[in-house]
Amino acid sequence: MSEPVSYSIHDGIAVVTIDSPPVNAIDQTLRARLKKTFTELRAQAGVKAIVLACAGKTFVAGADIKEFDTGIAEPGYHEVLRLIEDSRVPVVAAVHGTALGGGVEITLACHYRVAHVGARFGLPELSLGIIPGAGGTQRLPRAVALEVALDMMLTGKPMAAGKALEAGLVDSVTEREVLPAAIAFARELVQKGAGPRRTRELSVKGAAAAGELLSATRAKVARTMRNRLAPLALIDAVQAAVELDFDKGLQVESKLSAQLEQATEAKALRHLFYAEREVRKIPGLSPAIAARPIASVGIVGSGTMGGGIAMCCVNAGIPVTLVDAAQQNLERGLATIRKNYQRSVDRGSLRAEQMEQRLALITGSLDYSALTEADLIIEAVFENMALKKEIFARLDAVAKPGAILGTNTSTLDIDEIAAVTHRPQDVIGLHFFSPANVMQLLEVVQAGKTAPDVLVTALELAKRIKKTGVVAKVCYGFIGNRMMDPYGREAERCVLEGATPTEVDSALEQWGMAMGILAVYDMAGVDIGHLTRVARAHSLPKDPSFYRPSALLFDRGWIGQKAGRGYYRYDGAERKRAADPEVIAMLAEEARRLNIPQRKPDAAEIEQRCLYAMINEGALLLQEGIALRASDIDVVYTAGYGFPRYRGGPMFYADTLGLRTVYDGILAFQKTLDPQYWQPAPLLKELALSGSSFAQWQTGQTR
Ligand code: 3HC
Repeated sequence: MSEPVSYSIHDGIAVVTIDSPPVNAIDQTLRARLKKTFTELRAQAGVKAIVLACAGKTFVAGADIKEFDTGIAEPGYHEVLRLIEDSRVPVVAAVHGTALGGGVEITLACHYRVAHVGARFGLPELSLGIIPGAGGTQRLPRAVALEVALDMMLTGKPMAAGKALEAGLVDSVTEREVLPAAIAFARELVQKGAGPRRTRELSVKGAAAAGELLSATRAKVARTMRNRLAPLALIDAVQAAVELDFDKGLQVESKLSAQLEQATEAKALRHLFYAEREVRKIPGLSPAIAARPIASVGIVGSGTMGGGIAMCCVNAGIPVTLVDAAQQNLERGLATIRKNYQRSVDRGSLRAEQMEQRLALITGSLDYSALTEADLIIEAVFENMALKKEIFARLDAVAKPGAILGTNTSTLDIDEIAAVTHRPQDVIGLHFFSPANVMQLLEVVQAGKTAPDVLVTALELAKRIKKTGVVAKVCYGFIGNRMMDPYGREAERCVLEGATPTEVDSALEQWGMAMGILAVYDMAGVDIGHLTRVARAHSLPKDPSFYRPSALLFDRGWIGQKAGRGYYRYDGAERKRAADPEVIAMLAEEARRLNIPQRKPDAAEIEQRCLYAMINEGALLLQEGIALRASDIDVVYTAGYGFPRYRGGPMFYADTLGLRTVYDGILAFQKTLDPQYWQPAPLLKELALSGSSFAQWQTGQTR
């Protein structure tokens, strides 16, 4: 293994190179080596300037996240960065790739910054529940305007080199290789006799108007980043930068960082960081299995899903053939894709020529024979088993040998679909979420006969099209929709017991869900869920406690946003959701008919019932082997269902509550609600009674 930090001196310029693959993350060893290096360089009289660069694909991508689990060991960030900043000769950072978190903070301890034109600077700490804790909250507002610094740290959005130059974050941008450019920059400094420009000695930019900016930002954060600790702590730290001297400000930053690092919020977000990378590792799958090449994709169905999937593929440069049964549908589908891209062009997030390049990669056709060359064909028609079987039989007849046949079904039995082909080993579920070009999640459903290399290909494709692919096995609804069922059932039960739809959804939204489930039903279409339940009525218990009042909405045609009303009304130009007294009266009448006592559950009860029901189903999925890991379930829910990331996902959240609490809660509901419905999953019971957790169980399973 190469040295993580090395240096060489040529002609008075020392080049310090960090080389710690894969992403040059900073851990204790790296800090210790940086300390040693900069201490040694201090003693070298012949050194006139220092360039700090990185080997590999990127500049430092931040602190080694794993170190936060155990606590930061000596030497600390402040000590090492201070040593760099204290250098008596100018230090120039040479940045390529992504400088993230601690990576940006190192560049701020350097005196000058030269960036490759493709470099980006980001401070994603809030997404890990912490704040820039290596002096970033104090140095950044001294390097760029306070408003820009706050925006960078609050949004975590990486800033491109060109913008960084405009903002004053970098001194020079080069299209050439960055290291020689930085060396030339350093030489020029030496020739000019320019000394160190220490960021800590600069004053905060925009301090005069800071009071107003900080209080407006605080109010906005309280509104938009509800239930979170780190964003408000960040503003406190920045306020310290404005009001205190550098060293005192640094102390405030340290104190806040230490508190945040061990808080549940940070633990939850670190858990997701690991979980999102773990999903790609499939137990039992040999790393020697190679993915099949995917050079072109066919899509059957040019509706919302098919069009969104086509956009995902062409965004990644993969040509698409889009097939539909009717010319009119195809034209509408292609027009919608163009409209979606045009919106991005109008917003400035896409250039017009990029739009044209992407559109040029899409070919429409009414003929299945246009699919004969596709390496992967994804069926994306509506949820109907007979139709899907018919399509798969046709695809089997035209697809070339070795082509992968994917279905975008969200609930149906993929083994049954695969069985109509002569190549069930090539069939897989690719469950995209709507809108497919936006949503992060891709459930990759491994059917009974899916070949291992087909699974590997699907996971690679997910990464290529920038999705988080999570593997599930076949069952009704896979991971996501199956857990959604009891969660939504509880919400609908609560409205029958006298809580209004607004009360139910507000309870869930206050807790942190992006949108209450009844509003989600309205958005997705009440008819979708209802018709799916009707189609599988044979497999549902006949017990009245499984009855869902959305049937009443369906009967009246109140099927959600597309009809202008569902659980709510959507009137006016903005179509904002508003309570509907008629629906509330209808639900009360239905409760009377069914003799359901009006207990009017409060927010705490709504939240517990909905979430415990979801967690219990998650435990069933684990014991049935539908989900490979509890953390996979957490990824599904945070990436695809608006579950708050800062709570870590449903299974992590259950662990933070304590499984005994969840189990006892379910037993209590068994006594006061439906005893038949509230049955703890055997795995939940076992773990709760033995004082264990989903995380511990997982470790036991994978050991
Ligand atoms: N710490 C530890 N490991 C890290 C890491 C980090 N900061 N960043 C990436 N890795 C690991 C990943 O876990 C992965 O490991 P694996 O191969 O064993 O699964 C490997 O590096 C490659 O990462 P990706 O698969 O994510 O590679 P990509 O090329 O897709 O993305 C990246 C590269 C953009 C750098 C992306 O990894 C990333 O965003 N990393 C996180 C960056 C981050 O959040 N940094 C801030 C840390 S907090 C901080 O700096 C605190 C400071 O203020 C003190």
